[in-house]
Amino acid sequence: MHLAAFMNAGPGGVGGWRHPRAEPGWFSMSYYQNIARTLEAGRFDLMFFADSLSVPRSLGDSIADNVRYGVGVPRLDPIPVISVIAAATRHLGLAATASTGFQQPFNTARTFASLDHLTEGRAAWNVVTSFQDAEARNFGEERLAPRDARYGKAEEFLQVAAKLWDSWADDALVVDKESAQFARPESVAPIDHRGEYFAVQGPLQVPRGPQGYPVIIQAGSSPAGRDFASRWADVIFCSHESLESAIAFRRDVRRRAEEAGRDPNHIRILPAVTPIIGTTAGNAHARRLEFEDLVPAEAGLSRLAYHLDVDLSQYDLDKPLPPLDVQGVDGHYREVVEVAEREGFTVRELGKWYGARTEGNLVGTVGQIADRMEEWFTRGAADGFTVCPTHTPVAFEDFTGAVVPELQRRGLFRTEYEGSTLRENLGVPRPEAGEWRRRARIAS
Ligand SMILES: Cc1cc2nc3c(=O)[nH]c(=O)nc-3n(C[C@H](O)[C@H](O)[C@H](O)COP(=O)(O)O)c2cc1C
Repeated sequence: MHLAAFMNAGPGGVGGWRHPRAEPGWFSMSYYQNIARTLEAGRFDLMFFADSLSVPRSLGDSIADNVRYGVGVPRLDPIPVISVIAAATRHLGLAATASTGFQQPFNTARTFASLDHLTEGRAAWNVVTSFQDAEARNFGEERLAPRDARYGKAEEFLQVAAKLWDSWADDALVVDKESAQFARPESVAPIDHRGEYFAVQGPLQVPRGPQGYPVIIQAGSSPAGRDFASRWADVIFCSHESLESAIAFRRDVRRRAEEAGRDPNHIRILPAVTPIIGTTAGNAHARRLEFEDLVPAEAGLSRLAYHLDVDLSQYDLDKPLPPLDVQGVDGHYREVVEVAEREGFTVRELGKWYGARTEGNLVGTVGQIADRMEEWFTRGAADGFTVCPTHTPVAFEDFTGAVVPELQRRGLFRTEYEGSTLRENLGVPRPEAGEWRRRARIAS
């Protein structure tokens, strides 16, 4: 079983920052470094930082509610955040989100290759296509491109990045003081990429990193997102409303990977879970209710509007949500539809539920939580989990202090790191130079 920790470089989910035991250290290095040390002591594979490129809009296309309740703001840039964490850790994988929508592949490839060297093979890139018009408006565009076009651009972006990572052969560096040879010229070559979206001569000025390519993470769950993930992702981050939908998703992605010529066992699918641990089931349930009380209903609605990128004020909040063509996060829309149908919720009720949702229904004693994780793992719903904290840093301390030892006792989770790179710990192969050709051929 593999474990990732979900983080924002700022306050976490809605209401979590109001928890009596939550610590407001979002602007300090030591806050992030201490959480990372806790995760590393708990043998987590990686720490993952979500991100987006705007102050998210909520109802009425206004930022007011999100700013008022701290939904999606503030957010530091995750790259410097993982850089300071790198200095305080030795084994923990470090993942930052970067969008293919508004940056250039040259900068992004360079950043992650640099991080991979500095961390000695612990860098990971969560590849997103961005999902809000508000993000487009920070980069000179009025609206986001349609989903298929966004994934088309992401495809080319990844090809260019991978070509750049391969622009230095693994054996290019010589560094021989005697002969004055620094590197082999024949092992470093331009890429001369000319495509629909990008023209990049290359090569990169950073040699190939310890992992070849950083670990690639992806969280898109539309058909286009799944296809993209099945070709490029080493880790897939998702979120599901039921065991059944998680099993169906994992089966579908693995099938797509196989069709694309990849070994599906080289992909780690890590659904989100939000554990709430109690001394008894009743105590855990009471903690769950306390957590719900921290989330104002408007804040939940505001977060839902942000994640779907739909102005929900155009609908009657006391009626069911009509079917939508969502350009935002498709995976979250599917979950919302599943819950709305099951519970008969109005839009307002959906918002309240969405704000205080705890993924994976991990509310219970340590034993009950471990049982449920074991069930998801053994029934083929997950290769591990992305643990989302209700409040930081305490929720991670509680999880690593209690649930991790129970998973270890059951032989489900490592007691020591297996390898020195993140790829080795995840058990996913290091791409050979030229791997992009295989992926690109598959893509075309
Ligand atoms: C659990 C989860 C976490 C995500 N985290 C981010 C994120 O941090 N930043 C971001 O821009 N998109 C994030 N996304 C959105 C996806 O990466 C993707 O861009 C979006 O879902 C649109 O693709 P899709 O239609 O294929 O789902 C997340 C999606 C899911 C399901």
